Amino acid sequence: MTRLAYLFAAAFGLAMALAAPATAQVNIDDKLPLCSACHGENGVPTEKNIPVIWGQHQGYIYFMLRDFKLGQRQNDAMTEIAKDLSRDEMMALAEYFSKKPWPNLNQPRASAEDTKRAESAIVSGQCGACHGEQGMGDSVQPRIAGQQRDYLLLTLTEFRSRKRTNNPWMSDILGTLAPEDMDALANYMAGR
Ligand code: HEC
Ligand code: HEC
Repeated sequence: MTRLAYLFAAAFGLAMALAAPATAQVNIDDKLPLCSACHGENGVPTEKNIPVIWGQHQGYIYFMLRDFKLGQRQNDAMTEIAKDLSRDEMMALAEYFSKKPWPNLNQPRASAEDTKRAESAIVSGQCGACHGEQGMGDSVQPRIAGQQRDYLLLTLTEFRSRKRTNNPWMSDILGTLAPEDMDALANYMAGR
């Protein structure tokens, strides 16, 4: 092929790729049953330490899949799953799950004692500045209100001990709080 013909072919290929709708290029249908096996058919996770991903923010979901793939966040199941996903598949999965409705897990409201402890930790940790006053998050800041209690406790504890390594800021903030605050925060956020 002459250089000109090659350039033409490459430009034509690019134009075709841009013209096609993004979803036509990646088909995630074969991945979805796997996700549902743990994150739930109807958005309610099958185990207490598995997070809700239905209705979570698109940017956050994509970042987490990418972090699992790159090994910046470690979890046996998720690391294994994410390592085989392409960037386009991760983008499509993030879009798909972010458009689902957040499930109501019907978790109890925190006790008065936990509420008091959590509210004071929230003021000192300025959680609302990033997660929103109601804990609803936005874009790359996750929604934490109504998330699974056991998962919240696990991940707060792992941020605090720096076992979860993908956001040192969260670790720094939680490090300024008492260990007992993690339980109160998990109960409080889960029950909102
Ligand atoms: C074998 C069970 C299992 C399967 C299958 C699975 N996940 Fe997960 N997923 C988990 C667990 C457990 C966590 C929490 C990891 C941790 O504690 O760090 C998680 C975490 C996540 C997170 C981060 C959520 C957050 O709030 O930080 C996302 C996003 C996610 N999974 C997406 C997916 C997608 C998309 C699929 C399908 C391609 C999938 N998962 C399949 C068990 C699973
Ligand atoms: C400076 C902004 C900021 C502040 C302040 C902040 N967070 Fe976060 N938080 C984040 C971001 C960004 C993430 C996503 C981290 C990542 O990349 O894994 C996160 C993650 C989390 C998660 C994990 C959610 C999940 O689905 O895995 C929890 C729980 C959480 N924060 C609770 C809190 C609490 C409680 C406070 C206050 C004590 C707080 N955060 C303060 C920005 C913030």
